[in-house]
Amino acid sequence: MSDKLNVLKQNKVGKFDYNIVLIGFMGTGKSTVSSYLKKNFGMEVVEMDQIISERQGMNISDIFKTYGEEYFRDLETDLLIEMQSRKNVVISCGGGVPMRERNVVEMKKNGKVVLLTAKPETILERVKNDHGRPLLEGNKNVEFIAELMEKRREKYEAAADIMIETDGKTKQEICKELMQRISG
Ligand code: S3P
Repeated sequence: MSDKLNVLKQNKVGKFDYNIVLIGFMGTGKSTVSSYLKKNFGMEVVEMDQIISERQGMNISDIFKTYGEEYFRDLETDLLIEMQSRKNVVISCGGGVPMRERNVVEMKKNGKVVLLTAKPETILERVKNDHGRPLLEGNKNVEFIAELMEKRREKYEAAADIMIETDGKTKQEICKELMQRISG
């Protein structure tokens, strides 16, 4: 581990005067990376799905069913705007957040945007036993994932300040790469 990373880790510094915004397709490891940064660098984490779900008093699938996807997407935009008054927070975005141009503008106002990527096969392996993602229910196959990912790729890449491939890497390796690249 680099000296700089060691110092950061030992002191649990992680004092950034901006937020770290994690984006990427479902199952690319945004939540796992967030938990690691919280544990090792003492950073506060905002899991967008979790906050939205707590505030609405229902899980994401029920929000989609009851109010529709557009309603959910508006809540995502509102939360990003709310986060602009904060700093040194890891914002773990739902996979669809960067699809709205407005969201990218809002997240960049005080955030460095980190895109996590993974191959469709890796994604499928990570999400196959989970039932909390309405867009993947009934669609848990490599073809569907690859197609949706391809549709989204341009917007993900355009939003990103930093891109990190996660296939075959441990969470430690991913976070090390993130911390080194983000702190320049
Ligand atoms: C979505 C991703 C999910 C969640 C919702 C929609 C998407 O978040 O916000 O199911 O459109 O990609 P994760 O990326 O955390 O699974």
